[in-house]
Amino acid sequence: MSREYVKPKPGGVIEVDVDGLSVKGHGMASYGEYRVTIRGTVPGDTVIARLRKVRHRRREAEARVVDRTDASLERQEAACNHFGLCGGCLWQDLTYDDQILLKERVVREAVQPADDVEIGQTLRAPSPLQYRNKMEFSFGTGETGLVEIGLHPAGQFGRIFDLGLCELVHPVASEMVEDIRVFANERGLSVYDLKQHLGLLRFLTVRYAAQTGEVMVILTTSEEPFPLVEDLAIRLVEKHPDLASVVHTINRAKAQVAYGDESRVVCGKPAINDRLEPFMFEISPASFFQPNTFQAERMFERVVDLADLSEGETCLDAYCGTGGISLFLSQMAARVVGVEVSEDAIRDAVGNSARNGVENCQFISGPAEDLLGQLRDQGDRFDVAVTDPPRAGMHHRALRALIDLKPERIIYVSCNPAALATDAAALTAHGYRMEYLQLVDMLPQTPHCEVLVRFCLG
Ligand SMILES: C[S@@+](CC[C@H](N)C(=O)[O-])C[C@H]1O[C@@H](n2cnc3c(N)ncnc32)[C@H](O)[C@@H]1O
Repeated sequence: MSREYVKPKPGGVIEVDVDGLSVKGHGMASYGEYRVTIRGTVPGDTVIARLRKVRHRRREAEARVVDRTDASLERQEAACNHFGLCGGCLWQDLTYDDQILLKERVVREAVQPADDVEIGQTLRAPSPLQYRNKMEFSFGTGETGLVEIGLHPAGQFGRIFDLGLCELVHPVASEMVEDIRVFANERGLSVYDLKQHLGLLRFLTVRYAAQTGEVMVILTTSEEPFPLVEDLAIRLVEKHPDLASVVHTINRAKAQVAYGDESRVVCGKPAINDRLEPFMFEISPASFFQPNTFQAERMFERVVDLADLSEGETCLDAYCGTGGISLFLSQMAARVVGVEVSEDAIRDAVGNSARNGVENCQFISGPAEDLLGQLRDQGDRFDVAVTDPPRAGMHHRALRALIDLKPERIIYVSCNPAALATDAAALTAHGYRMEYLQLVDMLPQTPHCEVLVRFCLG
């Protein structure tokens, strides 16, 4: 096809050379003055693509691949049958080496570390498949009217596809999907319909403790009565001896949130246990726990290395979740203060330190943007601060308070290189120097980048 330029419009077909990568891992190409984002492509691809959205004022467009006519990176057969349709694993058809190279590129381009920043060797995941310890599935209704359980097709949050086997999670998660689907269809259970705000089943979350083998099933429903939940739990427990906890949670709101405001343990324990050597953690249904247990342990060890604590030094652990990083720091620190908005997570953090005989951690629940300011105002000081904010990065008031607290070293744990870049610019503008950067591959097969950065004052 000719490469003649025609003013782009939705539906138009273009041929382009992909030469860039967005921070979300999508290929980017130039078409005239426009930058076109094309999902499922990587630099070195030449593709014929159909334009979907065009934003003329911003000279931006989005397109879908129609055909790949050339590629510089080798493509392999994806392990998963749902690859291509599923919105989860964008890069399963790339070799693991290439995935790592692409992630390193995304981080380099987003953060643009200065030449004197030491770049640590990427911590590759030893198991690029079946590593996820938690997966959230959605209920849907197929064309035949039967209950389906699955994941969302790429970019289509209103739809799901019926899942066979997910290769990112332990096989027990896919078995739970199958067993619950069979039960739901046998007993004629209904699926929640967002538009009508009617129907029962909304989400299924499966958590798997990689070191102990314990499994938790969380069923999220609407407020419609669910008397059969006990029968379902009994059936699952009979079939899966490692099923340690079945939790039923009710989400009355329209918001598609997989954990409701009213919860009940249907059978087993209220939480499962997993080990990040040398600590044992209790994981409640709603608490954040790093999704890749093995990589979490290695990452927390790296955080301790980078904190480089001397005797008597104190640490702040902002956005501490269930206290994983705090506990690891407690081995070297005189005192650790963890700050976290989720009360459930703080309860787990307190329990986790008691369970592990740790006595030098204190956990405070509330928004970091308020609590860091309070710590500053009451004259607290920390030699080291670890900050591990959610995807959006640090709230500007939390960042301001962190800067005012003047910790000598800041270890920034980021799950979003773009937000990291913004926060890093603020830290460097206030006297911090980026010293070290390292990628941790927490979520293989996906473009997700987890980054550790060490900043020093002065
Ligand atoms: C990426 S997780 C890090 C958790 C923890 N560091 C770990 O590794 O397990 C981010 C955490 O920030 C918490 N969070 C989100 N917004 C917050 C806020 N405004 N203030 C404090 N914590 C917040 C979330 O509940 C979550 O536990």
